[in-house]
Parts: sequence; structure tokens; C-alpha cells
Amino acid sequence: MDLYDAIKKRYACRSYDSKPIEKEKLDRVIEAARLAPSAKNLQDWRFVIVTDEKIRKEVASACNEQTFIATAPAIIVGCSNSDYKMRCGLPISSIDVAIAMEHIALAATAEGLASCWIGSFYPEKLKPVLDIPERVEIIEVMPIGYPADKETHRPRESVEKIVCYDKWQL
Ligand SMILES: Cc1cc2nc3c(=O)[nH]c(=O)nc-3n(C[C@H](O)[C@H](O)[C@H](O)COP(=O)(O)O)c2cc1C
Repeated sequence: MDLYDAIKKRYACRSYDSKPIEKEKLDRVIEAARLAPSAKNLQDWRFVIVTDEKIRKEVASACNEQTFIATAPAIIVGCSNSDYKMRCGLPISSIDVAIAMEHIALAATAEGLASCWIGSFYPEKLKPVLDIPERVEIIEVMPIGYPADKETHRPRESVEKIVCYDKWQL
């Protein structure tokens, strides 16, 4: 699938078919994350892929009881090992992991799968479920699988509202 088609097709899927994801597909999706850029090429991201049904339900529970998450055959939990800050003052952890997670979302779409970004989770509940050490930061949770809902495209702001040229005019 063309990149722009994947960007247009991706949507937040909130119901999944129980059909497992073929190993080759999941491997290609993970490879898309591995190839993502990162500050100083540190690649300090780590991904826990949850397929076990009992653990998926526990993950969904730690995500503010968003039970639809457990319907996905795989849940990818994006974590960061890094406390490095860029010169601009921003920590790289959430930026680097977010880039890799969106690679995952777009690659999943290209594979005929669907996904959903999940930021509503309680790290203190989720870490023990997955044996994630205290020093590691959980950045994002992403269920992926074959969609069981209707592909839905939510509205976006116009280019005029979000973009200006040369100087701030917004
Ligand atoms: C950082 C982030 C956190 C999000 N957290 C959640 C979440 O916890 N639960 C959920 O159902 N959707 C979540 N979403 C999905 C957004 O609601 C969704 O992307 C947005 O409404 C636009 O819809 P679309 O993805 O279908 O284009 C999150 C999206 C992002 C980018």
C-alpha cells in the first residue's frame, strides 16, 4: 500500500476480530518500528507485545478499563529506557517512542490490520502486569489486529488553520 493511502486509511479502531495476526505480518510491523528515527540514534525504545488473552485483559483493565483493547489479538506496549533530554529541553523518551509507534500504526494499516493509540493508562497498574521495571517509562499502548468495526474517519482542521509560512500568523 502506498504511504499516503496508509496515512488516509488509518483510524482509531475500537473493536477487533479474534483472528490472530500472521507471524510474518507482525514481524514486518515490528520491523517498521525498528527502522524509525530516534534522537542521537539511541534507539532506547523497548516494545512488549502481549498476545496472551489473560494478560491482554489485565492490560485493558490498567488502561482505564477500556475493555475493547483486549479484543485485539496483540497489544504493543511502547516503552522508553532513556532519560536523555535534547538541547531544547524536551525529553526524547516520548518523542522517539511515539515516532516508532506511528510507524507501527501505518505498517499495520498497510498489512490490512487496524490499531488504536492508547494514552489513557495507569503506569503504576500496567507495570506490574508486564513485569516492567520502575526505571522504564511506558509511553503508549497500541492494540492491533483485524478490524471488527466500520472504518471511520474523524474530522481534521483545515490546512489554513494549522499552517503558516515564514512567521507565526496563527
Ligand atoms: C496520544 C494519543 C492518545 C490516545 N489515547 C486514546 C485512548 O486512551 N483511548 C482511545 O480509545 N483512543 C485514544 N486515542 C485515539 C484518538 O482518540 C484518535 O486518534 C482521535 O480521536 C482521532 O481519530 P482517528 O485516530 O480515528 O483519526 C489516542 C490518540 C493519541 C494520538
